[in-house]
Amino acid sequence: PLPTLLSLAFGYLLGSIPFGLILTRMAGLGDVRQIGSGNIGATNVLRTGNKKLAAATLLLDAMKGTAAAAIASRWGLDASIAAGLAAFLGHLFPVWLGFKGGKGVATYLGVLLGLVPIMLAVFAAIWLAVAFISRYSSLSAMVAMATIPVVLWFSGNEKVALLLAVMSAISWWKHRANIVRLINGTESRIGSKG
Ligand code: G3P
Repeated sequence: PLPTLLSLAFGYLLGSIPFGLILTRMAGLGDVRQIGSGNIGATNVLRTGNKKLAAATLLLDAMKGTAAAAIASRWGLDASIAAGLAAFLGHLFPVWLGFKGGKGVATYLGVLLGLVPIMLAVFAAIWLAVAFISRYSSLSAMVAMATIPVVLWFSGNEKVALLLAVMSAISWWKHRANIVRLINGTESRIGSKG
């Protein structure tokens, strides 16, 4: 009903703000969609060479999910889940960019932080471990996103586990070009401009 509809609406509006695009434009770096992978996320902003801007993109894209889930929590867990999912979908499919948005890793992380904060540490540990070994941002995110729903499920957070499983699946699908590049050995590594 009304709280759910409101949660979906403002979650989507928050999520659809393309911070990577806005920040790189404001910094005079042009359109981030014209460089690297063409993605609007922090990983691709890093390919401009501006680490601070990449960190700000990661933080702001994550906060969209956290804020959406936190604001809606006054109406209960279901509203929080609706707002988090809407923010995630807003990032991936923003109406302002013809529904061509990002891959959702940062916003996923933010939603997770808003719903089960301790899981941020689990996500970070997995991401960092895979990144340390492989130097692939996409692979690190995909491994972390595949693991989180399982950990949530077995730690008594079944409802959130289902939400995150859906979000993981959608984000994996958005990573399909990355998966092809990983298989072909042409995926760019963290720190390289490719
Ligand atoms: O955050 C998205 C990341 O997993 C991959 O980004 O730019 O390498 O496609 P990108």
